[in-house]
Amino acid sequence: MKSIRLSLLSTIVACSLLLCASSSALAQTGNQTDMTGYWKFSSPTSGLDYLQLKQTGEAVSTAGRRPLTGTLHAGKLHLASGTDANATTYDAVVKGDKFPATRITHDGPWGGTDTGTLERVTSEEVHPARLPLPDLRDLPDNGLVRTPPMGWNSWNKFHDRFDDATVRGMADAMVSSGMAKAGYTYIIVDEGWSSSRDANGKITGNARFPDMKALADYVHSKGLKIGIYSSPGPQVCGGYQGSYGHEEEDAQTFADWGYDYLKYDWCSAGGIYQSTWADLEGAYQKMGEALEKTKRPIVFSLCEYGAGDVWKWGAKAGGNLWRTTGDISDNWQSMQRIGFAQLDIANNAQAGHWNDPDMLEVGNGGMTADEYRTHFSLWAMLRAPLIAGNDLRTMTDETKSILTNPEIIAIDQDLEAKPVQLLSQEGTSEVLVRPLTGNAVAIGLFNRGDKPAEISFRWDSLHLGQGLGFGMRGPTVRDLWKHEDIPTTGDTFTATVPPHGVVMIQTTSGRRR
Ligand code: GLA
Repeated sequence: MKSIRLSLLSTIVACSLLLCASSSALAQTGNQTDMTGYWKFSSPTSGLDYLQLKQTGEAVSTAGRRPLTGTLHAGKLHLASGTDANATTYDAVVKGDKFPATRITHDGPWGGTDTGTLERVTSEEVHPARLPLPDLRDLPDNGLVRTPPMGWNSWNKFHDRFDDATVRGMADAMVSSGMAKAGYTYIIVDEGWSSSRDANGKITGNARFPDMKALADYVHSKGLKIGIYSSPGPQVCGGYQGSYGHEEEDAQTFADWGYDYLKYDWCSAGGIYQSTWADLEGAYQKMGEALEKTKRPIVFSLCEYGAGDVWKWGAKAGGNLWRTTGDISDNWQSMQRIGFAQLDIANNAQAGHWNDPDMLEVGNGGMTADEYRTHFSLWAMLRAPLIAGNDLRTMTDETKSILTNPEIIAIDQDLEAKPVQLLSQEGTSEVLVRPLTGNAVAIGLFNRGDKPAEISFRWDSLHLGQGLGFGMRGPTVRDLWKHEDIPTTGDTFTATVPPHGVVMIQTTSGRRR
């Protein structure tokens, strides 16, 4: 759906540059429609895609960063975003201001053919007027997720190409695989479920999600909780319906359907609001207040990629977690760049209000097992939400053993919730430390380099306060990936760490407090 996301974005970009033509361009030239103006592509199975078309003679094009170009010839419209394998194409026989059309997207495994309608719309539909935001105030803590939320989300594996049956299958697998027992609770339906609004303005599921309440009931019947996805903008990033102007109604609908978690993604809100702290906080507070009003306990997950230092105000807007970065991809560079950049803001998380460096890619195939162990260990050290993003129905034993490692999960979920600290960094070797409950300490020896590395630290460098000096009898040390206690002698701990790998240990002081 990248192309759709881009075309929505490009419309916004073009319009913010005041390039928007007005809807007065609704016109017919001779017998042939003049396509100049705004058009909406919608289909029962996909999101909306708004196109701002310009026609000169037979040439038709859109503005923006990834423009579509093509022709209207003998009544046939053909538009393409390029000639490469990833091009998006539109084809239609043009007839008046509303007619059937086909969109083909080639976007890796997420491409597909959508049969729908192209319909001329007004510029006001594409760029609705800005509605007032609430005066900023601190919302009360909703008391949820005292430890970072754990669950599964559809986006990383499926993008928007999934359906009700996929989600039910994932709930089944969450239980049968042992993930639920390991602590994973929320099944989160990301972009792709919504259609539009019914005659009463109520948001509805699309053909792939015919009954969102029944889906919630099913997930609950498995002893799990369920999450849903929307945006403060009129559309979510891929064009599906968002909550703009319907915040209270949608919060109530999600509550009535029985949802327990809302991921609220900025997306097209960027075409309406400014990316200022006040607008960001106001737009999220608006939904935070709407959720509060429902009286249903709903975890509020802010997703605006870290804009406006969200970690400084996310809790005030009612947020239980907030994305601190752009999107993760299933590769080492992306994961380690995001993960290790979180250390500076680690102090901003607290029980019930977590930094979210994005969902897990463990098991999606783009990294080695060592890299996935690093991913999982790093997220646990950061006290990050552990939201799996792989296909739980088909995961390998190795993937399962990473995602359900109880000793690593215990670090993530530790009630003490003290922030991680960087103990040392030398070249591509980093040692991270986290104090835990019960006078214990987690230590991660991370090798970000391409060759095996010997990584060491001195026990007396762990200046973690009284009772954690380890001076007297020496600590007990446990290897959290090998699941065994390891003998230690001397003042220093040393491990050989594989390339892009980690050694995670936990110690308990031999000293009494
Ligand atoms: C944004 C979010 C992702 C996902 C997609 C859906 O990119 O950051 O996590 O929700 O939108 O389009």
